[in-house]
Amino acid sequence: MRLNNKVALITGAASGIGEGIARLFAAEGARVLLTDINDDAGHQLAKDLPASCHYQHLDVSSMADWRDAIAWAEAHLGPVEIMVNSAGVSFPADIETVDESSWHRHMNVHGLGSMLGCKAAIESMKKVGKGAIINISSVESIRPGPLFVAYGAAKAAMDAVTKTVALHCGEKGYNIRVNSVHPAATRTPMVQQYLDSAADPVALEKIYAGMQPLGRIAEASEIAAAVLFLASDEASFMTGHQMYVDGGVLAKPYPAGEGA
Ligand SMILES: NC(=O)c1ccc[n+]([C@@H]2O[C@H](COP(=O)([O-])OP(=O)(O)OC[C@H]3O[C@@H](n4cnc5c(N)ncnc54)[C@H](O)[C@@H]3O)[C@@H](O)[C@H]2O)c1
Repeated sequence: MRLNNKVALITGAASGIGEGIARLFAAEGARVLLTDINDDAGHQLAKDLPASCHYQHLDVSSMADWRDAIAWAEAHLGPVEIMVNSAGVSFPADIETVDESSWHRHMNVHGLGSMLGCKAAIESMKKVGKGAIINISSVESIRPGPLFVAYGAAKAAMDAVTKTVALHCGEKGYNIRVNSVHPAATRTPMVQQYLDSAADPVALEKIYAGMQPLGRIAEASEIAAAVLFLASDEASFMTGHQMYVDGGVLAKPYPAGEGA
C-alpha cells in the first residue's frame, strides 16, 4: 500500500473530490482525519471507511479550528504527514455581478484557508521530519473564465501560497513538499449545482465535456489518483509543482465565454 500507516488530514472531505481522496487514501493504508464544515456528511463518510479513519469539524478559515484539528490528530493518530486542502466554494459571477461578500467567501476558503492549513500542518510535520501538502487548485487559477472573477482570483492566491510555502520549506530543510493539483470540470456536487441551475442541464454538461480534448468531464477518483501520487514517496523530488488533471484543456486555446 502506498500510504501505509501515514497520517493524512483532508479538508472538504465530506463531498466530491475530498471524499474521493479520503476513500483512496484509506484504501492505500493511511490513517485519515476527514474534516469539513458539513458535519453530518463527514461523520457518515467516516463510518463507511476503516476504523483508522475519523471525522472532525474544521472550518479552514479559522486558525482555532486548525489548531483543534491538528491537536486531535496528534493525540489520536500521530503527527500529520500528509495534508490535502480540498475545501472549496464556487459561486460563478462576472465583474459586474460579483459582490464583496462573495469575494470574501472565496478568498477566505481558498486563499486564507490554504495559508492557515499550511501554517498548521508544517508545525505537525516538523515533528516527524517530513511531509507532503497538496492544495486542490483549479484550471481557473491559470486561465479563468469571465464568470470566475472571485473564484479565479482566490485560486491564484492559493497557487501563490503553494509556491511560497514550497520555497520556504525547501530553504529551511524541512523535507516538506508542497504541490497543487488543478482539476478541470469534475463530476461533484459543486458542478452538479451549476448543472441543476441551468435551463438545460444535459446541454450544459455537453458544453463542459466539449471543453476538454478528452471529450468528457472528470470523475473525482481521477483527481484523487493524482493527489495520491503527490502524497506518496514516489513524488519525493517534486515540490512547488502544478499538476494539471484537466483532460487537456490547458493545452488548447480558450474559446471566448467558456469556463470550467
Ligand atoms: N468540481 C470541479 O469541477 C472542480 C474543478 C476544479 C477545482 N475544484 C476544486 O476542488 C475542491 C473540491 O471541490 P468539489 O468539486 O469536490 O466541491 P464539493 O462542493 O463537492 O466539496 C467541497 C467541500 O468543501 C466544504 N467546505 C466549504 N467551505 C468550507 C470551509 N470553510 N471549511 C471547510 N470545508 C468547507 C464543503 O462543505 C464541501 O464538503 C475545491 O477546492 C474546488 O474549488 C473543483
